[in-house]
Amino acid sequence: MDQQYDSQQWLVWMDELAEQDFVVIDHFLDPDVYHQIQSFFQDHLSQFTQAGIGALDRNTIEKDIRGDRTYWLDRVRDESLSRFWLLVDETISMFNRYCYLSLSGYEFHLAHYPSGGHYDTHLDQFENRNNRMISIIIYLNDGWQVGDGGELEIVRPDDSRIRVEPIANRCVLFKSADVPHGVLEAFKSRYSLTGWLLYQPSALGKFLT
Ligand code: OGA
Ligand code: MN
Repeated sequence: MDQQYDSQQWLVWMDELAEQDFVVIDHFLDPDVYHQIQSFFQDHLSQFTQAGIGALDRNTIEKDIRGDRTYWLDRVRDESLSRFWLLVDETISMFNRYCYLSLSGYEFHLAHYPSGGHYDTHLDQFENRNNRMISIIIYLNDGWQVGDGGELEIVRPDDSRIRVEPIANRCVLFKSADVPHGVLEAFKSRYSLTGWLLYQPSALGKFLT
């Protein structure tokens, strides 16, 4: 299948990522893929579970730190998202080609913050697990408006903060190890697809069901 974006476009995004550690891309998914993910999301909402913090066996549930409910995706089981998975492949191969990252795996979950949910400022790499290289978030909030809350807040090296509104089909990429970030309180349900490109394959399947 053809690439979704040509190398030139990827290079522009990667330059921005290299310069400021994150990049925001609007209208990221093809509208058909966007709608596929959205209906998949709604079909699986009853199977979401309260998210924890920490990696693998150290995973604990702390609702005052993070209030989202998640559903981990599996490429084989969730093959109805095949066009999304192809875009993940494309993203990994572009990073490997142009940023020499040696990415060899990925993990993605759907996330639902019910009204009142937030996520304290954190890094996406854990003390006991440091293979997350690039974080990817795609927002699925049709009709998001100022006042709905749930902004992604990125902390800059000078401690200033940037707020990114979680509007429909906006993608944010950032360096997992270097960008402290959190989610401000959401005042209505907030939906996203979040994932990480990994330096080594995930052992997740062994530990989480
Ligand atoms: C996360 C996270 C941010 C967001 O799931 O680790 O930081 O905007 N999500 O959903
Ligand atoms: Mn995070």
